[in-house]
Amino acid sequence: MEKRNVTAGERDDRVPRHIAIILDGNGRWAKKRGLPRTAGHAAGSETFRKIAYYCRDIGVEYLTIYAFSTENWKRPEGEVKTIMRLLDKYLHEAIDTMERDGMKMRIFGDVSGLSPELQALAARTDEIADRIDGFQVNVCLNYGGRDEIVQAARRYAADVAAGRADGELSEAQFARYLYSANVPDPDLLIRPGGEQRLSNFLLWQCAYAEFYFTDVLWPDFTPEELDKAIAAFRSRDRRYGGVK
Ligand code: FPP
Repeated sequence: MEKRNVTAGERDDRVPRHIAIILDGNGRWAKKRGLPRTAGHAAGSETFRKIAYYCRDIGVEYLTIYAFSTENWKRPEGEVKTIMRLLDKYLHEAIDTMERDGMKMRIFGDVSGLSPELQALAARTDEIADRIDGFQVNVCLNYGGRDEIVQAARRYAADVAAGRADGELSEAQFARYLYSANVPDPDLLIRPGGEQRLSNFLLWQCAYAEFYFTDVLWPDFTPEELDKAIAAFRSRDRRYGGVK
């Protein structure tokens, strides 16, 4: 797709404002090549970098990726360690490049379950992100959709008990307790890797997202594949429960 710099108040409606992606197929990609699963995650993190810059360049405003779920801790220890190492490397890079590249990063998930090093990096990226106005990448880390809703409900209940919120709860008010507060809902959800399920990802936020599934394994996903997903998105008739 054509690269463009989007300025506030002027954007191409044909490009989804917010794209969410479930990174899937890293393990199978590696197996096909006789490599350890961890090599698939390393390749997957490179693909993520390329796709993030491409999204920025074509005018997507938000990209949310599912990097590590609350259920992924069940994987073999070595695999979890590799994923955490890749995330550590990515967070260090983000800290160094976010301002230069006009690309801010946020972490969605229960950060308290991460190592102290990752927690410190997450806090540092948050500080920097506060100063940047522009394309936003949300990395879901130790994230579960149901867990997010339960944590939000707990925080809301605590606010009611402390007199900081009244008991009148609207959808918009509740959404402010989610990790995605201030982020519009995804327009397009992409799942590579051949499976067709949500796997506890952005359960609240995907209420009206268009879904796009492809058999392409995540490390093989290219900007051209993203263009195909966007073309499919454009052909959809979004009615939000109404009629047109
Ligand atoms: C799913 O593939 C992928 C994951 C659970 C991990 C994704 C993590 C990364 C790409 C690394 C870190 C991310 C960043 C942003 C630097 P799978 O292992 O379930 O694949 P399979 O279904 O083929 O086994």
